[in-house]
Amino acid sequence: MQGSATHPCLMSVRDLLPPSSDQFREDVLHGLRLPEKELPCKYFYDARGSQLFEQICDLDEYYLTRTELAIMDRHAGEMADVFGRKCLLIEYGSGSSIKTRLLLDHLKEPVAYVPIDISREHLTESALNLAEQYPQLKIMPLCADFANLPSLPANGKSARKAVYFPGSTIGNFTRDEAIGLLRQTARLCGLGGRLLLGADLKKDPRVLEAAYNDDKGVTAAFNLNLLVRINRELEGDFPIDRFWHHAFYNPTQGRIEIYLISQVAQRVRVAGEVFQFSEGEPIRTEYSYKYSIDGLREMAAAAGFEVKHGWTDDRNNFLVLYLAVRF
Ligand SMILES: C[S@@+](CC[C@H](N)C(=O)[O-])C[C@H]1O[C@@H](n2cnc3c(N)ncnc32)[C@H](O)[C@@H]1O
Repeated sequence: MQGSATHPCLMSVRDLLPPSSDQFREDVLHGLRLPEKELPCKYFYDARGSQLFEQICDLDEYYLTRTELAIMDRHAGEMADVFGRKCLLIEYGSGSSIKTRLLLDHLKEPVAYVPIDISREHLTESALNLAEQYPQLKIMPLCADFANLPSLPANGKSARKAVYFPGSTIGNFTRDEAIGLLRQTARLCGLGGRLLLGADLKKDPRVLEAAYNDDKGVTAAFNLNLLVRINRELEGDFPIDRFWHHAFYNPTQGRIEIYLISQVAQRVRVAGEVFQFSEGEPIRTEYSYKYSIDGLREMAAAAGFEVKHGWTDDRNNFLVLYLAVRF
């Protein structure tokens, strides 16, 4: 990997994703063939999806981003202290790396920063912006599925691994999947490894539901953009105006569930295959689990982490947990 002349510390993006269209096609066709149709939420994030997510973060209803940012703003110094000097900072689902800047402002001599994201263009642009703001920081962007990492970058192998996983992206995984992901993280980090995990807490369902059903319809556009992407990349013919966005809180499961609902009975073609929809039939596109502090503690323990500390906001809406590898 090479740095550029203008940003010598910024390495070019390393790609660990399989040829994207192959995997995307396989996953979409698999999901649409299921008796209860579903599509993996990681595919929301093409270039347009990433832009729409940035807009979601600015919505009044979407308390998550501003609440986590406020926690970071208040406590980033303590968080950087627990990561210690000369750590290798790795971020899962780095997006625009906005929250990371607060950490970077306090971290002492980080060996390098490895932003990992599935959204290639957004990752490239964010890394470039970051390189302008932090010219001394070695940035090694990795375009990959963080849930499927064979290893961490060899560079900085001897440094203490510090993983930052904000945005409550962990909430997109079922409990078993989340434990698997955390276990992989503990294994990759090894002894001395640290994890800073941002997680959304349980609260009034009206507040939760408003966050995923904004008045401006940005979340609906974000959800529907997945069909636009399928049409473009997989020769699909989803009529976008014949599906609608539906999101609600399931209190039994403790999660927001997001669907695309077929407004009418219709047939849709994707990659040469025909799929039948009945009127009102849903495609599940996302889960977003909401946690109790005890639930998170138990999940972390099952994955080989010990909860060392947690920072929350005045209303206990969101939690940033500091976990250390136990074995
Ligand atoms: C909810 S957003 C959070 C963005 C940012 N970290 C924040 O806190 O605002 C999720 C981010 O993770 C990325 N992402 C989602 N699933 C991913 C996966 N399986 N592997 C890598 N990146 C993923 C998306 O592209 C997006 O940037």
